[in-house]
Amino acid sequence: MTLKSAVRGEAPQLWLLLLLASISSSLWASVAARTGPSHDKVVVCYISTWAVYRPEQGAYAIDNFDPSLCTHVVYAFAGLDITQAAIKSLDPWQDLKEEYGKGGYEKLTGLKRSHPHLKVSLAIGGWNEGSANYSILVANDLLRGRFVKQVSTFIRKYGFDGLDLDWEYPTQRKGKPADRENFVLLTKELREEFDEHGLLLTSAIGASKKVIDEAYDVRQISRYLDYLHIMCYDYHGSWDQKVGYNAPLSAPADDPLSVKFSIDYLLKLGAPREKLVMGLPFYGRTFKTVAAGNLNDNSDGVGFQGPYTREDGFLGYNEICKTLSNQTSGWTRQWDPQTSQVLAKSERNIFTQEVHVVTYDSSRSIANKVLFAMSRRLAGVMVWSVDTDDFLGNCLLDEDTYEDFQKVTAAPRRLSQNYPLLRTINEATVLAVDELTVPELPPDDSENEIPHGSIADRKNAGATVLSLGLVSTAVFTLLHRMTQ
Ligand SMILES: *[C@@H]1O[C@H](CO)[C@@H](O)[C@H](O)[C@H]1NC(C)=O
Ligand SMILES: *[C@@H]1O[C@H](CO)[C@@H](O)[C@H](O)[C@H]1NC(C)=O
Repeated sequence: MTLKSAVRGEAPQLWLLLLLASISSSLWASVAARTGPSHDKVVVCYISTWAVYRPEQGAYAIDNFDPSLCTHVVYAFAGLDITQAAIKSLDPWQDLKEEYGKGGYEKLTGLKRSHPHLKVSLAIGGWNEGSANYSILVANDLLRGRFVKQVSTFIRKYGFDGLDLDWEYPTQRKGKPADRENFVLLTKELREEFDEHGLLLTSAIGASKKVIDEAYDVRQISRYLDYLHIMCYDYHGSWDQKVGYNAPLSAPADDPLSVKFSIDYLLKLGAPREKLVMGLPFYGRTFKTVAAGNLNDNSDGVGFQGPYTREDGFLGYNEICKTLSNQTSGWTRQWDPQTSQVLAKSERNIFTQEVHVVTYDSSRSIANKVLFAMSRRLAGVMVWSVDTDDFLGNCLLDEDTYEDFQKVTAAPRRLSQNYPLLRTINEATVLAVDELTVPELPPDDSENEIPHGSIADRKNAGATVLSLGLVSTAVFTLLHRMTQ
């Protein structure tokens, strides 16, 4: 008896067995392949790789990165060598393997072996690179052409999946008015080259109205970029010489300095929502004041530093939460509902008479912002940067994270205390689906007028998804029990 005849008639059980085996193996594959977040939004994680030089518990190496919490990771930053029209490493010892270097590029791209979901990009630019050399690059056809070829070879050499443009910003900071058009040409030519190799092209985008208006032809660059990473922070800081919120979710109607304004403005200018990625700061802005330390109090033009990040006017979330977790530090905090920001302040220093203030995003701020991003059906969110989350899990967890979610009665249980902000992003992305579900409208008779078949097809598709969902939930539960 041949196998063929057995399959045909004599042994129907074998049919069933084969079918079950193939279903379960494909289910197994799809479950096993899930090495990232359990939702289909993007979570873009920047690593400021110089964080490795921070002292003590502030030091962040690639080994500290948890690839299961992000869909995309961006290595920040590489630089521009304008004399060669080429991308270059800004820290060859950290980035490369040559001359006994630490090989950071390949360490990060190597994480794709254990976490196949992960996309790894290299960012070029950043605040310290300025704007002038980028302006020269994009203005010249020959330089642009050379750069496009070289950068494509460079990122593939180290196994990156893409390039993230972090020119801050076209037309600003010694840039030229022509940058706006020339930046479009750069993205267009990179897109043509990258399509040959299936590479990702993204860009960090300034969030202030002035920068958006002057620097970007939003419609055009949106054609060529895979994602726009909107830097929704630094709305206020010590440079204002008064206390303000770093990244207010919303502001009074006539104030363009808010996350909501930036996102809705970009949508209005024609940015496709499925390409918009909203930035979230894992840091706060700091102020020194002799006043009470309330919002809008006059402050020094230079904010105070933290022990790890050691940068005037800037404090990582890990530094903030450490101070606030200390019962004897004398710090107090206030939640602001309109902006979804926290203002925390010290006691007055008896010698200097100064009060230290920091405005920042807590877990609750992050959760509310994720909910907003999901309400606008954006591609997802971006994080600057994972190295200032409480990546060691030293702090107490916030208890008010989902305070503003109507349908959440208890916070999801966490298996780990570290990365509280990043975990909040992934939880909130899942919870937002339920939170934003509007009650179904009563059935409508006009249904009958819809061309034959379409409704039924959709309903069947729904049923298939549902039953597949049930099966995979069962398999998932089983796997979960097995691995406990
Ligand atoms: C721009 O390029 C020149 C020439 O290589 C270099 O000396 C200068 O430092 C660059 N500017 C910045 C801000 O990196
Ligand atoms: C807590 O704060 C107090 C007062 O600033 C300080 O002396 C102490 O060292 C801090 N404790 C920890 C564990 O950081």
